[in-house]
Amino acid sequence: MASKGQNFGLSEEQVALRDAARQFVQAEIVPVAAQYDRSADFPSAIIKKAHALGLLNLIQPSTVGGTGLSLFDACLVIEELAAGCSGFATSMVANDLALTPILVGGSPEQHKRFIGEIAKSGAPASFCLTEPNAGSDAGSLTTQVSRDGDHYVINGAKQWITNGGVADQYTVFATLDKTKKHKGICCLAVPANTPGIVRGHHEDKMGQRCSNTVALTFDNVKVPVANMIGAEGSGFKIAMQTLDLSRPMTAMIAVGIARAAYEHAISYAKERKQFGQPIAKFQAIQIMLADMATNIEAARLLTLRSAAMLDAKIPASLESSMAKRFAADMAMEVTTNAVQVFGGYGYTKEYPVEKLMRDAKLMQIYEGTSQIQRLVIAREILE
Ligand code: CAA
Repeated sequence: MASKGQNFGLSEEQVALRDAARQFVQAEIVPVAAQYDRSADFPSAIIKKAHALGLLNLIQPSTVGGTGLSLFDACLVIEELAAGCSGFATSMVANDLALTPILVGGSPEQHKRFIGEIAKSGAPASFCLTEPNAGSDAGSLTTQVSRDGDHYVINGAKQWITNGGVADQYTVFATLDKTKKHKGICCLAVPANTPGIVRGHHEDKMGQRCSNTVALTFDNVKVPVANMIGAEGSGFKIAMQTLDLSRPMTAMIAVGIARAAYEHAISYAKERKQFGQPIAKFQAIQIMLADMATNIEAARLLTLRSAAMLDAKIPASLESSMAKRFAADMAMEVTTNAVQVFGGYGYTKEYPVEKLMRDAKLMQIYEGTSQIQRLVIAREILE
């Protein structure tokens, strides 16, 4: 289903790219996914190997050392990564999320410096928008930035920061003046070794456990004025434009999770016998499998369409949110039904589907909950 489903007019290069990602995932990620789920360790060594193969910083320009893929091609790679383990995929895609604000709002010099150094080293980077009291309502963030001569000084707290405990660089959103709401928000590139940054403990999450998630505090963190990305006050728009670009990538993580669950469910349904025949012969199971196949395909198409639009520079907040919303909810349903196909066995850690169900839940929460996506969709269609 995977190859048939994806094979609509892909060029030879795209098929080769997808297959290279699939081979890497089979060799490096699948054999250790359960182990990393247990340990919740960050898979640095494997991500370094992915970087060496050009599977990191996917949409960052090759002129500054990124892989330089279109969003569409990045999505092909991301589905494969996530079908192997979404904890790995999230850790890797988090780099594009962190670097894209710089791509969107930064000067060529800033691209070279803040994208180029991460792209060259393959080090993790983090997008720091969310705060303890500013999640869905990102515009209400309170981390403060103030000008001090040739520097900006940052004070505040960030929450649920992917790669936060292992990153070399943070893209931090902070406000010059809370009373200005989103118009006061700025975007700054902050090297992780800047004095005053305190990293919290790695959260003990339900799923995507090897993806590193921490709280960060910024205590008089001082960066040169040259680290301001875009103009003062343009940070919220930069964040929103970034999320438009990253939501198709996140949607594709959901597609990858669902595809893996579906493939496990199909194989198991063909093997498992009840009432004298494989359970795949029963319509009750066939209907579940048929719905899984259809919904995965629909999510993939919605996602690739939004990616193609963004590649063509067509505004696609609507399509990007539709893809993220549909794919996330679809992955939750598909993985839940995959556990159902496995019955009692599916509910144990001996089989991979319970992990996929735990992993899928996060898709409905991060990078804008399913409810926030509906809010964006409703605003767009009612405009
Ligand atoms: N592109 C460009 N500009 C945009 C935009 C977009 N997609 N969306 C909004 N804007 C602009 C608006 O035009 C408006 O500008 P003006 O003042 O010039 O008119 C401004 O931004 C404010 O927009 P809104 O009034 O719509 O803002 P809002 O406060 O009502 O919030 C929201 C909008 C969509 C709900 C937003 O807060 C949002 O996206 N929330 C969810 C945040 C989110 O996704 N967080 C995830 C964090 S990252 C993460 O989870 C990743 C990880 O670690 C793995």
